[in-house]
Amino acid sequence: MDNVEEIKSKIDIVDFVSEYVQLKRSGTSFRGICPFHQEKTPSFFVSPEKQIWHCFGCSKGSDLFGFLMEIEGIDFPEALRILAQKAGVEIQRYDRQAVSQKTRLLDLTRWAAEFYNKVYWESPLAESARKYLKQRGLDKKTINDFQLGYAPDKWDTLLKFLLKRGYIEKDMEAAGLVIKRQSTINNQQSNYYDRFRNRIIFPIADLHDQVIGFTSRILPGAKDEDKIAKYINTPETLIYSKSRVLYGLNKAKIEARKQDQIILVEGNMDVLACHQAGFENVVCTSGTALTQDQIKILQRYTENIILAFDIDLAGQAATQRSIDLLLQQGLNVKVLKLEQGKDPDEFIRHDLKAWKKALEEPQEIMEYYFSLAFKDKDLSKIEHKKQISKDLLPIIIKLGDPVEKDLWLRKLGDKLNVSEISLRDALTRVKQPYLYKSVQGIPARGGSAFGGKERVPVEEQASEKFLALVLKYPEKGEEFIKKVVLDMFMMPRPQDVLRAIKDCYIKNKKIDFKKIKKEVKDKQILSYLDFLLFLAEKEFAEYEDKEIDKELNCFFSLLKKRFLTKKMENFVQELKQEEEKGDKKKIQELSLKIVKLSREIVSCQ
Ligand code: UTP
Ligand code: MN
Repeated sequence: MDNVEEIKSKIDIVDFVSEYVQLKRSGTSFRGICPFHQEKTPSFFVSPEKQIWHCFGCSKGSDLFGFLMEIEGIDFPEALRILAQKAGVEIQRYDRQAVSQKTRLLDLTRWAAEFYNKVYWESPLAESARKYLKQRGLDKKTINDFQLGYAPDKWDTLLKFLLKRGYIEKDMEAAGLVIKRQSTINNQQSNYYDRFRNRIIFPIADLHDQVIGFTSRILPGAKDEDKIAKYINTPETLIYSKSRVLYGLNKAKIEARKQDQIILVEGNMDVLACHQAGFENVVCTSGTALTQDQIKILQRYTENIILAFDIDLAGQAATQRSIDLLLQQGLNVKVLKLEQGKDPDEFIRHDLKAWKKALEEPQEIMEYYFSLAFKDKDLSKIEHKKQISKDLLPIIIKLGDPVEKDLWLRKLGDKLNVSEISLRDALTRVKQPYLYKSVQGIPARGGSAFGGKERVPVEEQASEKFLALVLKYPEKGEEFIKKVVLDMFMMPRPQDVLRAIKDCYIKNKKIDFKKIKKEVKDKQILSYLDFLLFLAEKEFAEYEDKEIDKELNCFFSLLKKRFLTKKMENFVQELKQEEEKGDKKKIQELSLKIVKLSREIVSCQ
């Protein structure tokens, strides 16, 4: 068995895909919302039996490796490395030069994380760091679970360590670990210096627990503390892109899926405090606004987002943008009531009970905005009413779902005792935020169950569904396979499959999927057969006997009707030519055929 086969035998595709997509059983397959295109109804199927997947919305499909490559946007060697690690399969080490740069950078960040963690626990230089995290209430388990570390107050601790291990400075720089000096300094061993110095180190991992970058916090009391940034992060590198990463998601994903909700906090320390207190479905962005990419990643796990940070009506720009985007994407957003000015970290340490209670009753974001806007307002004063609608209209206008928009608009009208029409009028005068427009501009994709962009003709749809039914319910299909003729299928692929089914039936007196697959040699037809079986799962999984008959009959007559119509059209053409020639005998013959055919067409309903 080669590496790929061995890995495939060890990782179940349903388990693996479930880390990204919520799957529900559907017949012999599993089904969920496709992660590769926008859709509301699930057309993404995974077959545990065949260990493959297929989406009817965007027509994508392949195996375990293909799935990982597609969803993470990575190449085959990287997918192989990730899956091999997961499966515990040893892959022969390649020669250093040949290893992709990505792999080299990942090696470096992994070493760096281990190094900083070791320094934290063992170095005398880390005394104050250990004291600090202890004072912040983090225990040993949390520190090690998140592999926190310490970068000493020196210019080359990490640099030296990595050089000794044989790594080169260029790669360290590419991983964001060291910085090149502007000018060469004499007597200096290297032209590079450590990016992180005298800082607590928080490794940032991707969804497969690979360290891809770092964020780091200054120690209180450090020199120039008030002049330098509290947090310093890895810059954009080949392996780290801050707009795609959510801190803590590798640890939060399972619980997020289980609880069907995720808590979004503002800071790294908040994530740690939550985990330590037993709340694992918690993530943060590193101080930036959420991006589309991050929201898409969150949506793999849940549509329910609970915000646990200070939010006010004219909030911080980053906060505001995050909320806008979440609402535009139609996620369910709720807000946790925090005690004034406290972040979750402080809140949890101050009063764990109150935190738990707050978590039990998060407020719907729009309700929350309403309560903020109406707070301390006197509705008998026209000025106050104006202020309220000024506060709320820009928020309502940004809602992605038109039904929601209407609902809140009506609610606002009711509460202010203002007609909806005058509010709508005001609404049109509210400046449209740029985000709203850019989202509106994105054309909706998918929709049709058959292939994304290219439209599949009706004949092909009918022949595919017909064949799918026959393959899924072979006993019922036999009767139809006897009647159906090759010419009833206009397209070559369905024709090939029909031929294979007919051959099988003639040989074995029954339709047997396995035997058909054995006989077929052409790879394209083989994968088309898989496609058809998925199609059956998707369209006809929970059908009762009667319905199957009805469907089969329906597709059969449709195909027959189309076939006969085509035939008749040909006769009509011929007839026209004969009429010009004036061959009476031929004309009569053809007219008879046409009449006969048209009767047949009418009868096949
Ligand atoms: P905060 O200033 O609220 O820090 O920034 P915090 O998480 O509460 O940390 P403590 O409790 O003071 O130790 C929130 C987040 O914004 C990012 C960090 O990810 C931080 O966790 N941030 C903040 C930066 O990236 N750079 C900064 O200079 C400050
Ligand atoms: Mn804090």
